[in-house]
Amino acid sequence: MELFDAIKGRRSVRKFKPDPVPKEVLEGILELALWAPSGMNRQESYFIVVQGEKKEELRKIFSDAFNDMKPTLEKVFAEKPKIVEGMRVFFETYGGAPVFIFAYAGKMPNGGWDTNSSAVAVQNLLLAAHEAGLGSTWTDGVLRKEKEINEALGIEDRKLICVLPVGYPDETPRVPPRREDRIEWIGF
Ligand SMILES: Cc1cc2nc3c(=O)[nH]c(=O)nc-3n(C[C@H](O)[C@H](O)[C@H](O)COP(=O)(O)O)c2cc1C
Repeated sequence: MELFDAIKGRRSVRKFKPDPVPKEVLEGILELALWAPSGMNRQESYFIVVQGEKKEELRKIFSDAFNDMKPTLEKVFAEKPKIVEGMRVFFETYGGAPVFIFAYAGKMPNGGWDTNSSAVAVQNLLLAAHEAGLGSTWTDGVLRKEKEINEALGIEDRKLICVLPVGYPDETPRVPPRREDRIEWIGF
């Protein structure tokens, strides 16, 4: 796949076939994630790839995250209850993805979290997944349960930046148009 097509053809996929993803395929996309640039070349990005029983334990935590958000969502979308219901179903099932990938940031020398380096690694991962015929999407609504997720995964000194459901797509998402006038040219 040409880079142009990979970048433009990648979509956020939120519904997956139950088919398992071979570990070699996951290894391939994670390798490309780790080839992303990183601040001071520290390469602190860290990924945890989960399937099986642990995934079910985490899915329950995601469902609790939705229950925390529900009262606010019901107020915000008072006129559009279908949106809230759609979100409930997504949080409870995570699109039926056979694999969850948890993307973590490490610390910078000044003690802050290097979330930027992990974000660019995730973009590599999303593009590589697309090239491998997989779908995924960056999700961060569940970060309100970061503490519970970290406990479930045994993580102590890293910052969770997003959770990626990964699997073979069971939907063809619409293509959201891109905003215009987002570039300013000076001296051209
Ligand atoms: C920082 C960030 C946070 C996002 N959070 C969520 C999320 O919590 N849930 C979700 O379904 N999609 C999430 N997305 C995906 C966006 O909704 C999606 O990228 C956008 O609608 C454009 O669609 P496309 O990715 O198919 O081009 C997030 C994307 C980014 C970059």
